[in-house]
Amino acid sequence: MHITFHENTRIFHLYNDDISYIMTIMRNGHLGQLYFGKHIKDKEDFSYLLETCERPMTSYLYENDRTFSLEHIRQEYPVFGTTDYRQSAVEIRQENGSRISDFTYRSHIITEGKPLLLGLPATYTEAPKEALTLTVTLEDDVTKVRAQLLYTIFAKGGIVARSVRLSNEGPRPVRLCRAMSLCLDLPDRDYVWQQLSGCWARECHIRSRALEPGILSIGSMRGNSSHEHNPFLVLKRPDTTERRGEAIGFSLIYSGNFRIQAEVDAHDTLRVLAGIDPETFEWKLDRSETFQTPEAIMVYTDSGLNHMSQTFHKLYQKRLARGYWRDKARPILNNNWEATYFDFTQDRLIEIASRAKECGVELFVLDDGWFGARSSDRAGLGDWKANKTRLPDGIAGLADRVEDLGLKFGLWFEPEMVNKDSDFYRQHPDWILSTPDRNQSHGRYQHVLDFSRKEVVDAIYEQMSAILRDAKISYIKWDMNRSITECYSSAWPADRQGEIYHRYILGVYDLYERLTREFPKVLFESCASGGGRFDPGMLYYAPQGWISDNSDAVERLKIQYGTSMCYPVSSMGTHVSVTPNHQVFRNTPLHTRANVACFGTFGYELDLNKLTQEENEEVKEQIAFMKKYRKVLQFGTFYRLMSPFEGNETAWMAVSEDQKTALVGWYRVLNCVNGRYTRLRLEGLNPSYYYRNSQSGVCCFGDELMYAGMITSDETAGQLPPDITPYTDFESRIYVLEVTEP
Ligand code: DGJ
Repeated sequence: MHITFHENTRIFHLYNDDISYIMTIMRNGHLGQLYFGKHIKDKEDFSYLLETCERPMTSYLYENDRTFSLEHIRQEYPVFGTTDYRQSAVEIRQENGSRISDFTYRSHIITEGKPLLLGLPATYTEAPKEALTLTVTLEDDVTKVRAQLLYTIFAKGGIVARSVRLSNEGPRPVRLCRAMSLCLDLPDRDYVWQQLSGCWARECHIRSRALEPGILSIGSMRGNSSHEHNPFLVLKRPDTTERRGEAIGFSLIYSGNFRIQAEVDAHDTLRVLAGIDPETFEWKLDRSETFQTPEAIMVYTDSGLNHMSQTFHKLYQKRLARGYWRDKARPILNNNWEATYFDFTQDRLIEIASRAKECGVELFVLDDGWFGARSSDRAGLGDWKANKTRLPDGIAGLADRVEDLGLKFGLWFEPEMVNKDSDFYRQHPDWILSTPDRNQSHGRYQHVLDFSRKEVVDAIYEQMSAILRDAKISYIKWDMNRSITECYSSAWPADRQGEIYHRYILGVYDLYERLTREFPKVLFESCASGGGRFDPGMLYYAPQGWISDNSDAVERLKIQYGTSMCYPVSSMGTHVSVTPNHQVFRNTPLHTRANVACFGTFGYELDLNKLTQEENEEVKEQIAFMKKYRKVLQFGTFYRLMSPFEGNETAWMAVSEDQKTALVGWYRVLNCVNGRYTRLRLEGLNPSYYYRNSQSGVCCFGDELMYAGMITSDETAGQLPPDITPYTDFESRIYVLEVTEP
């Protein structure tokens, strides 16, 4: 890994074995983008890659020169309002009303490792040699605002991490109206745009389209990153597949309002911008103040989408997620939500936990409804004290009883919310986000606490930490069940109201930071009505997240497949639930529900007492299987093999680091009569290792399994001999491949 600065040509070249990122200081002092892609050899001069030429109907920067227009130059940090008519990365409103700035090069520094971003989640290094960071300092002469552009290249992988620090070194306050984390100008638009979009219970569906002139964007203005669009984008070449071809993934490490967009101009060049949503953002930067943008990650590959995803998985698993649980196999849990909803007593919970223990579950999680006057979603949020009518021994007493059963105990919170029917709200009616003289809209009868105020975060911290100190709690599910409306904080002056969405998220991060620091062994799982805030920002604090409230196995195929584009299997909360399923009322076989959930953190969202004895035995086997293979399933190299968005069958697999064990998940939605012969060409195996297939008993070398394929055909429905159990709809299998002696 290197970062080279060629003095004569004023060219920066960041490179490792996989990628090159090349930029230059242009003659107007701005930074120009020359190349981002597969590694190319370093040399002194790449300046000719900066194409400037005369074009009609263009505005030029210099008198007597009709070549230098920012409109036609690929840039690193484009500004608003001076010869470039595309959307800019930064826009600063000054006291005189002008929004023009002119950031020119001042200095740069190359450091080992990677700096932390104050108050914000970000990727990190554990040893200085893991990465190099280039910080380029630019300044605007008029306002004296300084922009520091941070670029980190890691020793391995096609990754560049970027963010921007804006400091006001001038005498007057300015307003940031737009402060994007990343701009990448590419020389052509020959890409397919691929996003992860959906809505509640249908998150992270893969949607693709070709780029055309104009702007294509995804984003959120809800205060949370949202069910609707994940802060992630892929630009892939039209012929790129899972196995081969070029792609660039863009991921924003942020949990609030965001925007990621691509703008194709008249000459088919392409500008990608990613950062905080400019529409809902404004930040007053007083003298000597600094604003740090969230971090954005770019991953380049020329080896297909699986390879791009694996690069993200490794980075986010090892150098974004932190703490005690980062590398550990996750406990198999039983959550009571779909088993009881609000209708439970202490004894009923113990009954559920006892049977769970018998089946091999390791962690019992008490979901919503344990606190204050919470007997429905109309009351109680904000009062984080056990409801003694339901739980006479309190949380500490219940946790002790669960621990006595030999299980760990986990608890649900929704820290950012309050019901008006709560003591907390009655004491602090001005602690919710709401605009004076306007309606206070609710979502699920709840209101959003003003986490832009430290005293509000402090008060919730006091309540949560008191419980965590008092009771044996090993896990917290941190939920968030509505988006922000009427965003306004009574604690901040009028000219700071544009900051509230961002300050809110900083408050959420602050509470997470305090709790994870004080209780480092507690496993945090983030949740926002499922995947409403499943993003890299959350992963920094909570190494796993509940990716969807939809627990139907068939629906989950698409959700998990889409989520895997960016996020590792170890981060995906996945549970087996009852049939008929509570979201789509579908009946799927128990083994299929487990076969989907085992590519995730794995747990049960039901009362095992309500299953038959036979089903309980099956559950015991599932849990034993998961315990045996979870390290490979959750931390192995993950490959997508067949897409649920393209047909009736889905397949994916995980391969252990030593390539000696692989687990292949195969799923068929509808049964078919007298079906075709099918094979799966596997990936990631060692061609010379000899593998035994647990399903068929057949042994093959890895090369055969990858190039000839593994047979998945079966006797599909029709006229079957009486001794064969017929397959039905929603069939699935897990093939275990383990190395054996030839
Ligand atoms: C939404 C979550 O996604 C569910 O799993 C559950 O915790 C409910 N909230 C509880 O209100």
